[in-house]
Amino acid sequence: MSDPLLSVKNLQVFFHLAQGTLKAIDGVSLDVKKGQIVGLVGESGGGKSMIGLSILRLVPEGGKIASGKIIFEGKNLLNLSEDEIRIIRGSYISMILQDPLTSLNPAFRIGPQMIDVLRLHKGYDKKEAELIAIEMLHNIGIPDPKKNIRKFPHQLSGGMRQRVVIAIAFSCSPKLIIADEPTTALDVTIQAQILQLLKNLSTEYQTSVLFITHDLGIVANLCDSVAVIYAGEIVETAQTSELFLNPKHPYTKALFQSILRHDKKQEHFYSIEGVMGSHIDWPDKCKFYPRCSEKLDGCEKTGSVEFVSYSPDHLVRCLKYE
Ligand SMILES: Nc1ncnc2c1ncn2[C@@H]1O[C@H](COP(=O)(O)OP(=O)(O)OP(=O)(O)O)[C@@H](O)[C@H]1O
Ligand SMILES: [Mg+2]
Repeated sequence: MSDPLLSVKNLQVFFHLAQGTLKAIDGVSLDVKKGQIVGLVGESGGGKSMIGLSILRLVPEGGKIASGKIIFEGKNLLNLSEDEIRIIRGSYISMILQDPLTSLNPAFRIGPQMIDVLRLHKGYDKKEAELIAIEMLHNIGIPDPKKNIRKFPHQLSGGMRQRVVIAIAFSCSPKLIIADEPTTALDVTIQAQILQLLKNLSTEYQTSVLFITHDLGIVANLCDSVAVIYAGEIVETAQTSELFLNPKHPYTKALFQSILRHDKKQEHFYSIEGVMGSHIDWPDKCKFYPRCSEKLDGCEKTGSVEFVSYSPDHLVRCLKYE
């Protein structure tokens, strides 16, 4: 089988804080194949965004990629020069964030922002780029594109702004898009439209997507495969249908239990007991066991837990299955 487009191998990202070492990412491995949409799911603070930022070598100040490899199209991105990684960021891997206002420049109308990208990446002249930008706006469902192309970002609705950001991201024909909670700030009907747009464009352009979310419902509808992350470690990976049929890790099961039901009023809302905490100077052992409802006597004493293959492509990291 062909090599994956992106292969993150044993990535570690550390913050050396006054209180000790925070292993924000602790040995994460993850593959994204060509044309695939991979979901990265877990609670707030789990390290989802940090993985996305690490792939682009944009770890915030104070943090450091301590070890690992990020192989993209056969090259380790961690070995590239600053100039080389800038080219990757511009042309090969695009990022879409939760708030489209952070991606768009508030001081410029959306037309010039789209046109600049098309000229830079596709070499069109200004007139050609403008015509293509108008056509793109039409294709992504922006009404009256000739008029809307002259608007400033704040004059568009949140959903329309995110459409524009997605159109700009795809206009560079990247091989990979990292979408970090791109619909979290939108209401549910707009969210569905944006997810549909993202799915259609990724199919049309054969673009792979790493889709970061805390929402298993989105994963079910959008992703081919999924990795569940807890406190900087992947605890389970599988094809989406397999994970939904057969969740194995107690954390994955707890995430499923936390989904709100739409079919009946609930007396008690399930939430996972305790908090994730920061795990500063945490020894090599399961990070979830203090909150785990299925913990075994050995969980506290055992060192790091290895992945076990539950079925082909379904890996789980829990003492129960070792
Ligand atoms: N600038 C920073 N300095 C120190 N620690 C940081 C910094 N940024 C992130 N972290 C830590 O890294 C860990 C992972 O954070 P990250 O933002 O990747 O989580 P996340 O899964 O994206 O959460 P959310 O769902 O809230 O976006 C957290 O423990 C967080 O506190
Ligand atoms: Mg995040």
